[in-house]
Amino acid sequence: RKDVGILAMDIYFPPTFVNQESLEAYDGASKGKYTIGLGQDCMGFCTEVEDVISMGLTVVNSLLEKYQVDPKHIGRLEVGSETVIDKSKSIKTFLMKIFEKSGNTDIEGVDSTNACYGGTAALFNCVNWVESNCWDGRYGLVVCTDSAVYAEGPARPTGGAAAIAMLIGPNAPISFESKYRGTHMSHVYDFYKPDLASEYPVVDGKLSQTCYLMALDLCYDRYCSKFEKFEGKQFSISDADYFVFHSPYNKLVQKSFARLYFNDFMRHCSSVDKAASEELEPFSKLSLDESYQNRDLEKASQVLAKSLYDIKVRPSNLVPKQVGNMYTASLYAALASVVHDKNITLDGQRVMMFSYGSGLTSTMFSFKVKNVQHPFSLSNIASIMNIDEKLERRSKISPENFVENMKLMEHRYGAKNFETSKETSLLSFGTFYLTHVDSKYRRFYVKK
Ligand code: ACO
Repeated sequence: RKDVGILAMDIYFPPTFVNQESLEAYDGASKGKYTIGLGQDCMGFCTEVEDVISMGLTVVNSLLEKYQVDPKHIGRLEVGSETVIDKSKSIKTFLMKIFEKSGNTDIEGVDSTNACYGGTAALFNCVNWVESNCWDGRYGLVVCTDSAVYAEGPARPTGGAAAIAMLIGPNAPISFESKYRGTHMSHVYDFYKPDLASEYPVVDGKLSQTCYLMALDLCYDRYCSKFEKFEGKQFSISDADYFVFHSPYNKLVQKSFARLYFNDFMRHCSSVDKAASEELEPFSKLSLDESYQNRDLEKASQVLAKSLYDIKVRPSNLVPKQVGNMYTASLYAALASVVHDKNITLDGQRVMMFSYGSGLTSTMFSFKVKNVQHPFSLSNIASIMNIDEKLERRSKISPENFVENMKLMEHRYGAKNFETSKETSLLSFGTFYLTHVDSKYRRFYVKK
């Protein structure tokens, strides 16, 4: 089997968002904290009629319809999510409704969970299946679906919500370079959800930032070693055309790329020229721990990496800046942004991916992109995702209404015996939504 990877993608995010500049003012944060400090423009969120299940249904249905894939041709369906609606029943089983209608219940796979990493675990499972002896010739389908919500406080502006679906198979336009993978996993309490009565996580924000950067260093180092082993030459940021990061908020993505640049400097790579090396020289003596805390290093490497950032990273920023952290969907929404922006020019290029899930689990891996025939051509994927129009169609909600919505959702979380609002005018046709939850906590969805 050649070039196993992503054949097709679709993305869904709710039609409602709050503007970060207005939220900043409403929260009494200093002007620029959310927009420049975190680097975010808008934050999408689910109202009471949507959740991770409805978003999953919407995006799967849309992908199958738009690429004209027969539901019978799906042999494995994997879901990545960290939004807990049920502690036993997987989100995957809810999605089976779509396949049962066509008579196909012969579909392996369940949900994968570990913070924002579940989508990557699901993707690896599907790819491994296609590459294995169990493969029966049908497609794999990966769904990343999350609603990222935080209690009032500094983490709240780093929420978001979306679902992504990816069709997996051989001869893919976005195929895995399976040999080069660098992983780091460890036991840390940086972000976790121990309170099962609440949808909100417990977060140690500062620790999560350092854990993310440490994981990035380790994964990059391991990726580079594997690349060098197989290719017989050093890997540096010059060897990849695009870098796509899990994006809790854009500032961390800027810092991450600068950190890779600093790594290249420490490894004496040609990607860092002589003048830049001289500027970074004073920081070469810092201990590893000091290097994560040193503000001058952070600033200097960000300035030096800026022109490369603009070329290799900025194209991935669109959806993450507009929708916010989508947890498992965040990394793939960033990849979708690159496909949307760069389209067929990606032919022949390498895209690096960094997946991070608190707790923690992380992997760096890469894709080789090549244009293939319709319907899985890069231009068709971009046009089906239709990102510009989906962003354009959204409605801006005031911070007051957003906060009111969050309060309602707190009551609804884990609740039974309620009907949702009949007001669904903001949802576009084809969107699934929650109508009611009965006295036995059973959830009911319909398609608009
Ligand atoms: N204008 C411009 N920049 C500003 C302003 C302003 N008025 N005010 C603050 N800033 C800058 C700060 O200097 C800081 O930037 P820096 O990191 O480059 O110094 C940035 O804005 C954020 O300000 P902080 O004071 O550091 O923010 P705070 O600590 O209140 O919250 C945090 C930020 C920790 C990210 C919080 O939102 C959080 O906990 N989020 C959830 C955890 C998270 O997303 N972690 C990332 C990895 S794990 C995951 O994906 C869930």
